[in-house]
Amino acid sequence: MGTGNIMGHTKSALFPGLKVKLKTGLTALFLIFIILLLYSISSLNQQNPSVSEKKQSGKELYLKHCKVCHGQEGAGRSNIPSLIDAEWIYGKQDSIVLDVIRKGRYGINGKMPAYESIIAKDEIVQLVEYLKKLR
Ligand code: HEC
Repeated sequence: MGTGNIMGHTKSALFPGLKVKLKTGLTALFLIFIILLLYSISSLNQQNPSVSEKKQSGKELYLKHCKVCHGQEGAGRSNIPSLIDAEWIYGKQDSIVLDVIRKGRYGINGKMPAYESIIAKDEIVQLVEYLKKLR
C-alpha cells in the first residue's frame, strides 16, 4: 500500500461519489419543481369553484350591494322602491330589470346607482334571477 495507491483510491472514490451527489441533487431539484408545479395547478383548481360559487350566488351579491337600500327582503323603505310588490316603476321584464341594474336610474324616488362597472354582466343576470325568488 503506497501513497499513490491511496491517492488513486481516494480519487476514484471521490469522483463517482460526486456524480452520484450531483445526480441526487438534480433529481431532488426536479422533484421539487414537479411538486411546485402540481401544487400551483391544484391551487388553481381550488380557486375555480370559489369563483363560480360567487358568480352563482345572486343572494350574496344582493346582500352585498343592494340590501343597504332595498332591504334584506327587498321591501324597500321610504323613497326606495320595493322589489317585491306588484307595482314596478320600470316593469319586471328580465331585460328591463337587467338594464335598470346595469345603467342605474334617476327618477322621482332618487338615484338608483349603475352597476355595470361594479358587477360583471353574468353576475347581474344572477341578481335578476335572485330578485324573482324574492317576490
Ligand atoms: C343607494 C341606494 C340604492 C342601492 C344601493 C340600490 N338601489 Fe335599486 N333603486 C334605488 C332607487 C332610489 C330606485 C328608484 C329609482 C327611480 O325612482 O328611478 C331604485 C330602483 C331599482 C329598481 C327598479 C324598481 C322598479 O320599481 O322598477 C330595481 C330593479 C333595483 N333598484 C334593483 C337594485 C339592485 C339589484 C341593487 C343592487 C345591485 C340596487 N337596486 C341597489 C336605490 C338603490
